[in-house]
Amino acid sequence: FDVTHQVVVPDERDAIVGQVLACCDEQHVDFVITSGGTGFGPRDFTPEAIKPLLEREAPGIAQALLNEGLKHTPLALLSRPVVGTRGTTLVVTMPGSVKAIKENLAALQPLLPRIMTLLKTGVCAH
Ligand code: MTE
Repeated sequence: FDVTHQVVVPDERDAIVGQVLACCDEQHVDFVITSGGTGFGPRDFTPEAIKPLLEREAPGIAQALLNEGLKHTPLALLSRPVVGTRGTTLVVTMPGSVKAIKENLAALQPLLPRIMTLLKTGVCAH
């Protein structure tokens, strides 16, 4: 990965939406990861902010993140991941901890090359 854009925003819908839209619609990045705000805390509304922005949801990939997390901790289910695409950008909401992000990335890693190829070419290369 080349990290092209990093930003920290408060747990506020407009702030989250604004940054994700900028990444997808203006910068056309390949991959947006949000971190945090996926749980059941009073300010945890990242999935709800992101979901309306997605043109195509990928619930199977969200499930894969949870499956991988469950190999490490039952607390993985306290995260409510949303995954999908907007234009040619893949958007994934991850939990806030570095440990959880590493575990989520491990689940995504085998899928990412093919997702990126599909998003750009429409071809599911074998
Ligand atoms: N997922 C993985 N893979 N590994 C973890 O350690 N921690 C959980 C969960 N998901 C965890 C995980 C915990 S303890 C919480 S509270 C939720 O993510 C929500 O985190 P967030 O509110 O920071 O997004």
